[in-house]
Order: sequence, then structure tokens, then C-alpha cells
Amino acid sequence: MPASPNHLSDSQVTVDAIESFAHATDPRMGHVMGLLVKHLHAFVAESHLTKAEWLKGLEFLTAAAKITTDERNEFSLFSDVMGISSMVDVVSQPPGGTPSSVLGPFHNHDSNVRANGCDLTDGQAGERVWLHGRVLDVHQNPIAHAQIDFWQNADNGLYPAQDSAQDPQNLRCKLVCDEKGEFNLLTIRPHPYTVPTDGPVGALLAASNRNIWRPAHYHVIVSAPGYVGLVTELFPAGSDYIDNDTVFGVRPGLIVDVKPCQDSEVANRFGLTTPFKQVAFDFCLVKQA
Ligand code: BEZ
Ligand code: FE
Repeated sequence: MPASPNHLSDSQVTVDAIESFAHATDPRMGHVMGLLVKHLHAFVAESHLTKAEWLKGLEFLTAAAKITTDERNEFSLFSDVMGISSMVDVVSQPPGGTPSSVLGPFHNHDSNVRANGCDLTDGQAGERVWLHGRVLDVHQNPIAHAQIDFWQNADNGLYPAQDSAQDPQNLRCKLVCDEKGEFNLLTIRPHPYTVPTDGPVGALLAASNRNIWRPAHYHVIVSAPGYVGLVTELFPAGSDYIDNDTVFGVRPGLIVDVKPCQDSEVANRFGLTTPFKQVAFDFCLVKQA
């Protein structure tokens, strides 16, 4: 059978381009780059990509580079809306732990350390939610003094980085669990919001007639010495867009019920009246290999 120039296995260009990475100093890097070439070439061959389409792709990447700053990374957003960030979560997930989910662009390494049991609401609008639970290992044993890093959007749907009226530390904190691995804090119900749409990714979503919304979520990073760190999110059940997250971050094990709570000690501590709303969730960390 005559060789078809469009068939991947017949392309000397593909073979040569893969081979060009075979002697990388870091063998893993050479392997990953070879696979990337293999799949990108297959995509070009299968789609019969035209020169005009290829140029459009380069223009997209150039526009992404132009809008990217230290505060705003359009490439990271592109990875998110393509489902790549979530696929990396899925394939790198150690078995047995709480599912991970996207980090997103609004994490701040400099969140203040607050006391376990703190009140993050600070008089602002929003339905009060008492968020509490434990950090456990895969055998359900508590991990004493695990660290929680928490952030979310405000009642107007915006993060502090998007809203100069908010204190940069609003609705975010780091805290240390007690010796039983327990944590709790008072916060508000988060809200759905749109990913940034003023760059080339926004134009791509519009041209694709795609949803631009994420469902309501809390962001949490859980860490403890000797355990694989967990970057995840909790999604209140029933939120709009929970079945259509534009960055594909929702996992069944991360959907939480917002339930009424009658605990009068907690109500007194935070100046609430019963019943108030609570979310209870235990995070599970996997030991480092
Ligand atoms: C977020 O959850 O904050 C987010 C995640 C991915 C892209 C944009 C925003
Ligand atoms: Fe978010």
C-alpha cells in the first residue's frame, strides 16, 4: 500500500521530531516532550489543520502572552477551560485521598494565620455558614495539627483581587487543626462567578458558545508533614452551574450539603441564632511514598 503523507506512522517529520528529544538531559522531560510531539502531530494530521488555522492558533497564544502578568495568567486559564488542569488532577491523584480540584488564579500565599474557630465574616453581607470537619489519613485516623489554607469569593461573587472595596485578606485564612485534626471557621455562602472573559480565552469561550460560569465553591489547601498536599474545592450542593463548571473542577466527592445546625454553643460563640447553616467535611490525606 502506498504511504500516505498524512498518516502519522508514515511521517518522517514526526519520527524525527520525537527523536530530537531522545537525548534530553532529563530523560523524563525528553519522554514527555516526545509524547507531546506525537500527539500534537496526530492532531495536525487528523484535523488536516490549514495554514490559516495554524496562524490563528499562534495569534491566540500571542494574545495570551500579551495579557499575562504576575497577577493574571491567561495560559493557566486556557489550561483550565481546556480541562487540562483537571486532567492533571485526575492522573496525579494518589489513590484513597480526597479528590483534588483546580487551584484557580485567586490563591494568595500571604493569607493571615488565624485561630482555629475564627470568624471570617467581619460584618459583611452573606449567609453565615459554619464550616467544620477533620483532617484524616486513609485509615480514618486524625492528623494532628494539619494546616488548612482557605479562600472564597464574597457575597457579590468577587474575590478581593477583583474588587478594590474588599480588604485583600477578606474571606481567606490559614489555620492549624487541633490535636484531633479538627478545624472550624465561620464564613459565608460562596457564589457562582464567571472566569475572566476580557482576554483571548474569553473570546474562545464566546466563539464556542460555551458557559463562562463556575459553580459556587470554597477553595481549600490541606497540608501536613509526611503527607501529599491536597489542593481542592468544596461545592455546595444545588449551586447553579454545578453540572456545567467551565473549568471541569467538580467531582462527586466534593459536593457538600449546606445543612441547618442547632448547636447553641456555636451559635453563642459567633452571635448566630439557631438554626444556622453548616457544612461538615472530612479531608483525607495520603502518606507521601
Ligand atoms: C477559581 O476557582 O477561582 C478559578 C478557577 C479556574 C479559572 C478561573 C477561576
Ligand atoms: Fe474560585
